[in-house]
This record gives sequence, C-alpha cells and structure tokens, in this order.
Amino acid sequence: MSTTTTTPGSASAAVALSAVTKVYGRGADAVVALDRVSLDVAPGEFVCLVGASGCGKSTLLNLVAGLDTVSGGGIQVGDDARPGLMFQEPALFPWLTVGANVEVPLKLRGLPAADRKARVAELLDTVHLGDFARRRPHELSGGMRQRVALARTLALDTPVLLMDEPFGALDAMTRDSLHDELERLWTGRNAAGTPLTVLFVTHNVREAARLADRIVLLSSRPGRVIYETRVDVSRPRRIDSPEVAAVAADVTDRLRAEVGRHGH
Ligand SMILES: Nc1ncnc2c1ncn2[C@@H]1O[C@H](COP(=O)(O)OP(=O)(O)O)[C@@H](O)[C@H]1O
Ligand SMILES: [Mg+2]
Repeated sequence: MSTTTTTPGSASAAVALSAVTKVYGRGADAVVALDRVSLDVAPGEFVCLVGASGCGKSTLLNLVAGLDTVSGGGIQVGDDARPGLMFQEPALFPWLTVGANVEVPLKLRGLPAADRKARVAELLDTVHLGDFARRRPHELSGGMRQRVALARTLALDTPVLLMDEPFGALDAMTRDSLHDELERLWTGRNAAGTPLTVLFVTHNVREAARLADRIVLLSSRPGRVIYETRVDVSRPRRIDSPEVAAVAADVTDRLRAEVGRHGH
C-alpha cells in the first residue's frame, strides 16, 4: 500500500477530473457538493470512490456521465467515449424479456438483427444467464436482475464503466458472487487488450478493498479527496482474505476520523 503520485489532468487518462466543483442551488441555499476534486483514472484501472453518505459520490459520477454540468473545473473522458452507467436499481423494462432488455442498447447502436441475437447470447453467457433470455425481470432474483443490468451496460461496448453502489441492495452472498464476476470480466477485458476502466462508488469499504486497484476517499460535504491508496493484493481476491481486511481497516480508520470530525 502506498499513496499514489498520478498527476491530475494527464492527457492519457481514461477519466480526468481537474478541480471539479459542484454547487447546487444559489445564495443562502447553495450546497457545495464537491470542492475542487482532481482525479485521474488510467485506462484499464479499477478505482473505488468511498465516502460517507451525502459526500458527493453520486454527484461526481453523474458529472462524469454527463448527466449534469460542473460549476467549476473540468472533466475529460478519454476518446470522448460515452461511459456506461449502472445504479443500485437495475431499472430494467418489466414488459421486455431478459434478452430484449439486453438488446435495447444494441438496437440503439444500430446493429443488424442477426448480429444482435448473437451478441445478446454472448453477453448473457458472460453473466451466467444464458438460460434466462426468455424470462421476464420479475421472474428473477435481485442478483440475477443486477446481472442483466450489467449485461445491458456491457452491451454499450464502452471502455468506461461508471457504477454507483450497484450491489448495495443485494445480500452478502449474492454480492460476493457479483464481485467475482465483475473482477473476472474486468480482468478478461484487460488481458484481451480492450481495457475496461471502472469508476465504482460505494460506502462499503470492504467492497472497495475487494475490488479496487486504488481507493479514493472523499471527505464529508463538501466532497474533497482526502486520501488515496493503492490496493496491492493479487487477484482473484476474496473479500474475507486477511490482505483485503487489512486494506479495509486502514481506509475505515480514515473514514471514521473524517466522519468523527463532522460529528455525525
Ligand atoms: N439535485 C440536487 N439538488 C440539490 N442538492 C443535491 C442534489 N443532488 C445532491 N444534492 C446534495 O449534494 C450532496 C451530495 O449528494 P450525493 O452526491 O447524492 O451524495 P452521495 O452519493 O455521496 O450520498 C448532498 O448534500 C445532497 O443533498
Ligand atoms: Mg449516492
């Protein structure tokens, strides 16, 4: 473990934030959600953004996704790629089958029907749902629905994946298996030379230590980067390994100190 020395604003970054500030509202009601956040995510890197509830994590992700605009500073997404987004709620179309849900982004991308069928099958295999293409979302468990959401996000074929507490509503066992799958997927993409950059938001420090190459800790409001650390633990990892636990303990101590400083 060591603190990093990346230089924010580097042109080779997959995602680059330089002095990003976000203020909601105006005048006396203004809320400074983010205060001059600088962060570079390298191509193929898996970065977890951790912080207390309300510290601006979702705000930051929404800005990178282009769903909202910065009040100050700048954001660059490498090659102007449109990032894929995944949230805590899978937000599937309930009237469409699992296969049709995954097909939506392929249709939007204009893929011919024959290619779409093959790609849907491939994506569902990737998330171990090959046998469920004809089911509807309500017939699946929460974990399976979140797998469909992951397949649908992957169907965008984007090099950048933005994930906002995507496994936050799942039980621990299901979450563990999704961690394994996400790691496998991400490792496979990087090994194949088609790097997948992941910016993953969570308030769960253990989850961050399980997944990340690098953990970035945000302060309580306004969100500022107060700590970052590399997670030099070999993969595949286990969430209950002593190495992952040691990283989580270090980050938890810093998070506790930060939350304590704010008295909540
Ligand atoms: N659209 C909005 N309008 C006004 N305030 C907002 C809006 N979105 C978020 N906030 C405020 O900005 C702060 C950061 O919120 P958010 O990014 O959702 O935090 P987190 O995801 O870390 O829990 C909070 O104080 C929240 O109330
Ligand atoms: Mg949030």
